[in-house]
Amino acid sequence: MRKPLRKAVLPVAGLGTRFLPATKAMAKEMLPVVDKPLIQYAIEEARAAGIEQFCMVTGRGKTALVEHFDIAFELEATLRQRNRTDALEALKGSQVEPGSMLTVRQQVPLGLGHAIWCARAFIGDDPFAILLPDDLVLSETPCLKQLADAYNETGGNVVAVVEVPREHTNRYGILKTGKDDGRLVEVQGLVEKPAPADAPSNLSIIGRYVLMPEVIGHLAKMERGAGNEVQLTDGMAKLIGNQPFHGLRYEGIRFDCGDKAGFLEAQIAFALARPDLADAVRAFLHKYV
Ligand code: UTP
Repeated sequence: MRKPLRKAVLPVAGLGTRFLPATKAMAKEMLPVVDKPLIQYAIEEARAAGIEQFCMVTGRGKTALVEHFDIAFELEATLRQRNRTDALEALKGSQVEPGSMLTVRQQVPLGLGHAIWCARAFIGDDPFAILLPDDLVLSETPCLKQLADAYNETGGNVVAVVEVPREHTNRYGILKTGKDDGRLVEVQGLVEKPAPADAPSNLSIIGRYVLMPEVIGHLAKMERGAGNEVQLTDGMAKLIGNQPFHGLRYEGIRFDCGDKAGFLEAQIAFALARPDLADAVRAFLHKYV
């Protein structure tokens, strides 16, 4: 019997150097797109995929991420006193079930693979999802829900993939592909940040994964890969051949919010998707473009 997918790991221990000085004293994952921090989009997407337990892998200066999901008792009492039901409503998505969110600390940012390994006690023997909050996906069906459905179909590892320009393969984890039905593609190999000439395809992994717990054993070897970091991609590559492993071409648009241009594009796209803002945004865009 296939184990249900109920756990998600959210690594948030990176330094966010591309967003300095904004990220000097504040976590990159607290940057808002329109009016909601990136981390909350990730938690809401996970919930919509049936996730019930969350583990944030945090580091120094990330306490606001934990605070954000707590109850702001004084703020709520004041809002109630003032009959601000609209503002109280806006706070709802930032509350989680008591006891459903853990944090573990990655003391030194040794890479994404190391961050996931830090959550090993939380993961135990269960399949788990990973969401990188700086990858934001605008889609009809939440991206992780699409992956969860694919996990139920295939019974193994599934990563969200998208075609990227060949000259950009050195920024991403890239697939060596097998059987491909246009939606699900069998993964025969994985390479982290290959030079365009060495890339086995131009299908890249985005920050949404459903993985089997066996990946932890491979990450535990702490082998250094691209950039001298412990790479999740290298750990995942060791699963291929032993377990089903697929890439899913998800429906939706991905925004790389760890990058300034990607972050600005997300602001525009998400604002245009909001009925309360779309007209105003469309009007001022005309002024500048
Ligand atoms: P990034 O590659 O975007 O790195 O990490 P970063 O440090 O956040 O940002 P830049 O490149 O310096 O601007 C991808 C994801 O992996 C997490 C990050 O928090 C982000 O969610 N991560 C990365 C860790 O948790 N630990 C690490 O050691 C590395």
